[in-house]
Amino acid sequence: MDPIRWTGKSLEILDQTLLPDRVEWIECRSYDQVAEAIVNMRVRGAPLIGIVAAYGVCLAALGYSGPREEEMAYIQEAITTLANTRPTAVNLFWSLERMRQVLQGHTAQDGQELASRLIQEANRIWQEDLEASRRMGELGADLLPPRCRVLTHCNAGALATSGYGTALGVIRAGFRKGKIQRVFADETRPLLQGARLTAWELSEDGIPVTVITDGAACHLMGLGQVDVVIVGADRVAANGDVANKIGTYGLAVAAHYHQLPFYVVCPLSTIDLATGCGQDITIEQRDEGEVRAIGNKLLVAPKAGVYNPAFDVTPAHLITAIITERGVAKPPYEVSLAGLMQKRPGESAGERIG
Ligand code: MRU
Repeated sequence: MDPIRWTGKSLEILDQTLLPDRVEWIECRSYDQVAEAIVNMRVRGAPLIGIVAAYGVCLAALGYSGPREEEMAYIQEAITTLANTRPTAVNLFWSLERMRQVLQGHTAQDGQELASRLIQEANRIWQEDLEASRRMGELGADLLPPRCRVLTHCNAGALATSGYGTALGVIRAGFRKGKIQRVFADETRPLLQGARLTAWELSEDGIPVTVITDGAACHLMGLGQVDVVIVGADRVAANGDVANKIGTYGLAVAAHYHQLPFYVVCPLSTIDLATGCGQDITIEQRDEGEVRAIGNKLLVAPKAGVYNPAFDVTPAHLITAIITERGVAKPPYEVSLAGLMQKRPGESAGERIG
């Protein structure tokens, strides 16, 4: 399930704000159209934001028509604009840094050649994420008990990544191995990524999924209906604290209370060793209108205030393991994550660290 298409001249994006009601693609021909799509969450999910931003840089290179000596400054301006779209998911900055390095390493005067090098790098970022997702799926599926009932939050699936998923990649691989009995998807207020996106992509794949309100998750655990919680991540700090969609922290607390495993699945591009702990992660605050209304329907008394953080931080001690493409990190995460980040791809893949 590809959430984007690169045509060579433009980036087509499946507009996730319209799903599951309408399946519509938008065509971005300039980097500012890509930036708009990220800000307004037509495209979202940490790894996918990184991938589309990389293609945004390609569009800047393809669309530039001024003097050659000013081209680098123009593309740098595109990188800055794309970096200012959303602050929490570190994949965005990681992928823009890769694109900036290609730009910096470029010496030829030929703008066409620069564009094709940038496109090659964006293609690599996309492909690498796909391979990482499949690997995480296999490693994570091995950890699942037989015929388990999984609870997940937000959408960490094909629609949030290169086309397979992190948390939902583990669920896909687990389902293929006959290990998944049912998936419970939190609605995920206010933008309903669980109800609209996770439920859509899993049911399209024939994986049994039941949507619950966010408030029902703890109740379901208390009833003994959940065996494992699996979520994605937007940024993992060096100590293992995890920023993910608002509501994740509450789920981790509830899972801990009910003695359920709580797994985070993310590629190495989501791990940010430069950020020491969760308190250092910038939490995106989004427009209060997202909470006040759904479409034209007002939900909140007009004179009431609204607080709308998009993410929260789950402390490392509530996380059973962090599943990456290079292995499964266990506490103490300061040690296990640093160990994973030092390894080369392919080296001791699948080894448990920590
Ligand atoms: O605000 P969103 O929809 O971009 O938030 C997405 C999440 O929080 C996902 O869980 C996270 O990006 C992991 S995606 C593989």
